[in-house]
Amino acid sequence: MTYLAAENRYDGTMLYNRTGRSGLKLPAISLGLWYNFGGVDILENARAVIHRAFDLGITHFDLANNYGPPPGSAESTFGQILRQDLAPYRDELIISNKAGYLMWPGPYGEWGSRKYLIASCDQSLKRTGLDYFDIFYSHRPDPNTPLEETMGALDFIVRSGRALYAAISTYDPEQTRQAAAILRDLGTPCLIHQPRYNMFDRWIEDGLLDVLGEEGVGCICFSPLCQGILTDKYLAGVPEDSRSAKIDGEFHWKDTLTQARIAKVRRLNEIAQARGQSMAQLAIAWTLRHPGMTSALIGASRVSQIEDSVAAVQNLALSTEELEQVEAILAAD
Ligand SMILES: NC(=O)c1ccc[n+]([C@@H]2O[C@H](COP(=O)([O-])OP(=O)(O)OC[C@H]3O[C@@H](n4cnc5c(N)ncnc54)[C@H](OP(=O)(O)O)[C@@H]3O)[C@@H](O)[C@H]2O)c1
Repeated sequence: MTYLAAENRYDGTMLYNRTGRSGLKLPAISLGLWYNFGGVDILENARAVIHRAFDLGITHFDLANNYGPPPGSAESTFGQILRQDLAPYRDELIISNKAGYLMWPGPYGEWGSRKYLIASCDQSLKRTGLDYFDIFYSHRPDPNTPLEETMGALDFIVRSGRALYAAISTYDPEQTRQAAAILRDLGTPCLIHQPRYNMFDRWIEDGLLDVLGEEGVGCICFSPLCQGILTDKYLAGVPEDSRSAKIDGEFHWKDTLTQARIAKVRRLNEIAQARGQSMAQLAIAWTLRHPGMTSALIGASRVSQIEDSVAAVQNLALSTEELEQVEAILAAD
């Protein structure tokens, strides 16, 4: 069936925030393809989720070379959906990609060398069938490669037309300051940083947000729902079709589904309900409360989750009292 984007997709459902001091706006909610869009997943579901996201004003889709499983397959899925459905809308889309984690064997298949980043970017362009990415990231800092080399590779990727903007992910505050300075000197400013941030992982409050504000770099936080733990989905056990069940409870980033956490989510969910929101919506609104937070980068396994999460933008303001209640719950033993 031919896809036609909803005519009212920009009619106010979504908010668009300026990214740092750049000219680019990103939707307050962006969609990542880490899970649920791989070769092991159902293509028609992936297609439906992406269509619904775009229809609701999500213009930014986030990829990495290794998303799948198997690695590379999320790029192929997205490429197919682009060719089939989204090609007429290419100029309405911000598509990001990254390189940093293991992608192929041997000494050039991961980390931050110029050799790896440029080869990986070229592979990713082929797999997606795109002429260029809007944003290209160094996915993680490499302790064994000079930062000048990694940033120089990003600058080259932009100058050679493979990407429009350069970005970094999971760099600590000092690495971020240095990376931003190098990129500025090269004439390719760092557009945005992609750190992990949610109610259970708040490391960016300890310096990173300040550095980003000073440097004029945007911020897009990943896993705002803590991979689904900060929703109501685990309050009555572990559903069979959940990420936790699929990965046997072995979440990345040491996310754990402990009873203590579930008890906190239950109490947080009461605040959400009092606001007339779902737990997922409260968790997203909470990450977006920082003025420097450009976008919350969510995942979704089905259309209903996109609809629920996007509706968070209808009620983002949190009162001082609500914020204090959240703090008290998070701080409790
Ligand atoms: N830069 C990096 O190093 C890095 C690392 C990780 C991720 N990322 C990026 O961040 C993106 C998002 O990461 P994430 O998937 O962990 O994000 P997340 O939004 O914290 O978790 C997404 C999961 O939460 C559940 N969910 C989503 N919306 C829901 C709703 N409204 N109600 C109930 N459950 C809901 C779904 O779980 P079920 O599948 O169980 O239904 C979904 O798969 C990735 O796709 C990727 O683009 C970047």
